[in-house]
Amino acid sequence: MAFAIANQHGIMFPKQNHGKNQGGFMPAFSRNTLIHTEHAPITRRRMLGLLGASAAMAASAGMPAFANKDELLPMRRGAAPLLLHFNENSLGMSPKAVEAAQNAVATKGNRYADDAINQLTSMLATKHQVPESWLVLGNGSTEILNSIVNLTASKGGTLVEPTPTFGAVRGFAKAEGMPIIEVPANSDFTTNLGALKAAADQIKGPVLINICNPNNPTGTICKQAELEAWVAAAPSNQLFLIDEAYVDYAVQNPGFKSLLPLVRDGHENVVIARTFSKVYGMAGMRVGYGIAAPKTMKGLRPFTASYNLSAGGVAAAMASLKDDAFYKRSLVSNVEAKAILLKTLDDMRLKHIPGSTNFILHRISGPVADYQRRMKANGILVGRRMTKEDGWNRLSIGTPAEMRIFAKTLHAFRNEGWV
Ligand SMILES: Cc1ncc(COP(=O)(O)O)c(C=O)c1O
Repeated sequence: MAFAIANQHGIMFPKQNHGKNQGGFMPAFSRNTLIHTEHAPITRRRMLGLLGASAAMAASAGMPAFANKDELLPMRRGAAPLLLHFNENSLGMSPKAVEAAQNAVATKGNRYADDAINQLTSMLATKHQVPESWLVLGNGSTEILNSIVNLTASKGGTLVEPTPTFGAVRGFAKAEGMPIIEVPANSDFTTNLGALKAAADQIKGPVLINICNPNNPTGTICKQAELEAWVAAAPSNQLFLIDEAYVDYAVQNPGFKSLLPLVRDGHENVVIARTFSKVYGMAGMRVGYGIAAPKTMKGLRPFTASYNLSAGGVAAAMASLKDDAFYKRSLVSNVEAKAILLKTLDDMRLKHIPGSTNFILHRISGPVADYQRRMKANGILVGRRMTKEDGWNRLSIGTPAEMRIFAKTLHAFRNEGWV
């Protein structure tokens, strides 16, 4: 398998370099039997189990069937579930997007969505001030991540990425048998750009550098000047995937800047990934996109599927782009909800990592698995173990109302001695 040996900088280097299709990764599964979750590919059977559990939970008006009665607090009896584990947007979609999707399904569900895809591409090109040919839409930004990995794998490339980070790219790279180098974050959880660069510079062949900015699960942003300087002067074998899924939340932080201007300037070594799943609340509609200068886009495009978006998803995305009021409401809601959450954590002296996203990485006392289980018993789904050191939880920021309920529950947990 990949990543086993740490050098003196703590960088994890692969034990062996497996070429594409070498090394016998997951021999029992074809790529079609793997479904990626946030952090790793899992089997279809396990995914169905998970889906069944959350569907049962969401459908239930009272407590979910899997609640452990011993750990169910009286205040949570019969309460509605809170889904705070996947960084979704609890506000839902813009009502205008819902209406547009319903209309599209009713009137165009029997047709491939090509025309609408072209229209959405054109709207995004205008929004981002790039030619339409520099954009490719994906079935969620996950399809863009998958395509970049496949492009790199087709050239026998290596993946370099920080740890912890969003696991989809690593999952796809593992499935492709690519060598993977994981570079630990700094002690404050910020991405260690210097060590990433040092690791990438050692690789002579094609290398994909996966930088999620702001990062998931830490919420931290990269040092702007350092990142820009590296990308602008990088050797031609280094391709940067800059995953900006949380960009809309991050632009409120003066220290953050998108790398889009570098692409606009024609830098061919950057692909930016964006999504409608977060601020627009469209995770279930599966709309994302990639932006890259023409030569890189030409290489990437064949790795995306044709007809990859649904009529409903595309219609919802176009309506969302036109609904400024919803966009602002979504951001304001996140700011208000985040303030409630941070005050609660501060009051309880639970350390949190400054984040520029719709989630927060925070301390809990004890193992996150126990915390997760107890929260689940109380109808609240929270993050799982994502950090090397135990005792941290990633919590999605729900609506202000949800955060108030969460705050009460957390205080009740403290009274029980659980956090
Ligand atoms: C950093 C990051 N990139 C990409 C995604 C996937 O987004 P999409 O729903 O567009 O596939 C997520 C989802 O949580 C994410 O956190």
